[in-house]
Amino acid sequence: MNNWLYSDIVKDHFTNPRNVLFGDESEFPADAKGQTGNIRCGDQMLMLLQIKDDVINDVRWKTYGCASAIASTSVLSEMIKGMNIKDAYAIGSEDLVKKLGGLPEHKIHCSVLGDKALRVAIDDYLEHTGRAGMLKEASTEICHCLGITDKDIEKAFNNGARTWEQLQEATKIGTVCGGCKEKALELLHEYMHIYG
Ligand code: FES
Repeated sequence: MNNWLYSDIVKDHFTNPRNVLFGDESEFPADAKGQTGNIRCGDQMLMLLQIKDDVINDVRWKTYGCASAIASTSVLSEMIKGMNIKDAYAIGSEDLVKKLGGLPEHKIHCSVLGDKALRVAIDDYLEHTGRAGMLKEASTEICHCLGITDKDIEKAFNNGARTWEQLQEATKIGTVCGGCKEKALELLHEYMHIYG
């Protein structure tokens, strides 16, 4: 009988999460800290990084999130060790979902917590090192629940998304409160006019 919703990789990372912060922040002297939360889901994520010469040497994280948030952040924490901050900044939830062998559709929005906290931590590091906002693209947040911007929508459009369903598949937009649907569709139509 196999009625588990999750892949074996998710189960492994959920039951044995890597690089978790035990105790408080003083246990792990960090060069950067990122904290994020999705108030509507009640999830919170803390990520601490040790960075040398713009390379992430070590990471610890802690969450009050669900199984999907735990598994995707565990996978993320393994991926970013030894990685340049620029490459780490570009990791998206779709990369994590792929690594995890998929997630149930209604749980995908939880997987954005870790990579969001990672970008907050890297922004924090850049600020400390006199390069504030260096990796931030000028963008406007469209989906406030998931931090999805006009740039993310444009990227999805360029990858072929033309309907709300396709946009959701690519970005997970609107999967929390749905309040961003109208604005996102307006933008999608605008891109259709601009790019044809
Ligand atoms: S603003 Fe809530 S799901 Fe987008």
